[in-house]
Amino acid sequence: MSNASKRKILITSALPYANGPIHLGHMLEYIQTDIWARFQRLRGHSCIFAWADDAHGTPIMLRAQQEGIEPQELIDRMKAEHERDFQDFLISYDNFHSTHSEENRQFAEEIYLAAKEKGNIVIKTVKQAYDPEAKMFLPDRFVKGECPKCGAADQYGDNCEVCGATYSTTELKNPYSVISGATPIEKDSEHYFFKVSDYADFLKTWVNSGAVQKEIANKMNEWLEGGLNDWDISRDAPYWGFKIPDTKDKYFYVWLDAPIGYIASFKNLCEREGIDFDEYWRNDASGNNNTELYHFIGKDIAYFHTLFWPACLKAGNFRMPSAVFCHGFLNVNGQKMSKSRGTFIQARVFLDHLPAEPLRYYFAAKLSNTVDDIDLNLQDFQQRINSDLVGKVVNIASRCAGFISKKFAGQLSSELADSELYQQFIDAGESIAQNYEDRRYSKAMREIMALADVANQYVDEKQPWVVIKDENRQHEVQDVCSLGINMFRALITYLKPVVPELAKKSEDFLNAGELSWASVAAPLKSHEIKRFKPLMTRIEEDRVNAMLEANREQLAAAAALHSKTAKNKDSQLGKDPISPTIEYDDFAKIDLRIAKIIKAEHVDGADKLLQLTLDLGDEQRNVFAGIKSAYDPADLEGRMTVMVANLAPRKMRFGVSEGMLLAAGPGGKDIFLLSPDNGAQAGMRVK
Ligand code: MSP
Ligand code: ZN
Repeated sequence: MSNASKRKILITSALPYANGPIHLGHMLEYIQTDIWARFQRLRGHSCIFAWADDAHGTPIMLRAQQEGIEPQELIDRMKAEHERDFQDFLISYDNFHSTHSEENRQFAEEIYLAAKEKGNIVIKTVKQAYDPEAKMFLPDRFVKGECPKCGAADQYGDNCEVCGATYSTTELKNPYSVISGATPIEKDSEHYFFKVSDYADFLKTWVNSGAVQKEIANKMNEWLEGGLNDWDISRDAPYWGFKIPDTKDKYFYVWLDAPIGYIASFKNLCEREGIDFDEYWRNDASGNNNTELYHFIGKDIAYFHTLFWPACLKAGNFRMPSAVFCHGFLNVNGQKMSKSRGTFIQARVFLDHLPAEPLRYYFAAKLSNTVDDIDLNLQDFQQRINSDLVGKVVNIASRCAGFISKKFAGQLSSELADSELYQQFIDAGESIAQNYEDRRYSKAMREIMALADVANQYVDEKQPWVVIKDENRQHEVQDVCSLGINMFRALITYLKPVVPELAKKSEDFLNAGELSWASVAAPLKSHEIKRFKPLMTRIEEDRVNAMLEANREQLAAAAALHSKTAKNKDSQLGKDPISPTIEYDDFAKIDLRIAKIIKAEHVDGADKLLQLTLDLGDEQRNVFAGIKSAYDPADLEGRMTVMVANLAPRKMRFGVSEGMLLAAGPGGKDIFLLSPDNGAQAGMRVK
């Protein structure tokens, strides 16, 4: 490719919050971005992918407090975890930085000071909810109370999950701070605002310039017509973020410095690799750029990226993004991802049970350039991988390679048996490329699979396994299979942005260097390939089920940890909120018995469970208990414990659990059962 047509592209994904693990919803976006990056590189362009963790804000500050560590320690740990997930999902980013970095502090200050200089910053006094015990202002999500309409308890300040009513935080009845449980008071505070309306005309032009999708532009136009409010960019101490210059205790709101993290991450990369920063982030003298800049984001954060962000860039004298690419949300099995249904699937849990490439392919087969939501149907996922990647694509190579190795010493024919047929594969390249470029990945995948069908039909018709029996026609088999291998090679090239590891294994098998888009036009002739090894295996249903079960366990463990740390925190503050009272009759229903642990074993495939056989004197029960972290099964046998003997049996992945064990302690290594010899007898009633 000539230098003149070589594009210089910088792309970003939205920065994940550093207070939680990566889940498959995030991965939809990061895989979408990565496929695009890999596609551009395969076409011979330069495409840099730089992003970061979003490491500021109240939730991160509070989580660190709960864990009893410094925020820095929390965000360092999260960054390492996030990066491991991304690498294992084969995300080919060039830099992953943090918004809590020196570069980001400098750019945030620079943009703020430039905006101030231009007169875009105003200071106003606002009334805000304040927690008098924790001594801090409360973000909306940290105030709960009773719904003013239906009276449901524990509702957030904007809408009721029970009756669906919407209202404002001040309307909540008996409001309380989620942090301390105290009743919030209203308190005045000085806040710094960015007058986005100063850029209204500029934004109107930009939003309608083709830089954002139609659906998003329409929404933005509505907001622009309605008039833009000033944007509150400050927060009061205590806050985890950057101090605003020339203030005593005001901090930049996390959303002010988050997108600036795109710039900071790139700057960090430039310093490391000697890239020209200005070429990518500043306009040249004529007000143009010869580089391209794209942001991939989810539809929930379009507002920040198509109004506030361009206004900040303009104020700070940076260039505009060439486009903002917005995608829809990931659903699982037709519904919003949900913790209670166990479909809030963590990236790590997925990777523990299944390889990354099938999910990359499945997402590609579903993604378009619209903001429509996308459904991960797990049964469809499994079938689609088995039928498309394994059954169609890899199958062509496995059908043809055996004959070539065994009968023709690995040699491909010197000519293509049907050059018109192969031309079809070359010709399809441009349309497939255009679909990748336009982020219509699902169309690209359909075109590639249609070609795979053509290749399989060809081999079916030619029946090499029959022809090979005829001594005089063996050369035909070499020709048919050589063409088959070349068609496979074209398919893998077109799929390479989606399945890079499959492509790498195929490159090794084809023995002709790295595949590039242009190499499709030069098929392999009189060339020796290596022996075929299986390139990809089918996905079995039980692997998908095991993944889901492990995810449920993980979610339950995280929820337990969360309520435990929340309680610890409450007790530090002298408050231990007890659950609502129950009547004595409710209590009397629980049949608590002393049980003797007569057998304790590890459970294959379970991270936290032990399988126990409990003796109740005249009967034995099978119970699964999540106490693996604290006990070696061998130490348990012979010990006494208290169990809920009349809990309805529950079917788990590993079997039926016929009761529940009671234990006390903070968790981890410290979960206490009864001691072996305190005179208790199996079967004794506890109350
Ligand atoms: N930290 C902000 C982004 C700052 S960018 C300057 C944030 N973080 S996030 O972790 O909540 O989300 C990161 C990205 O993942 C967003 O683009 C968001 O839309 C995307 N997704 C999060 N959940 C998602 C789904 N269930 N489905 C698809 N994308 C989702 O927002
Ligand atoms: Zn309600």
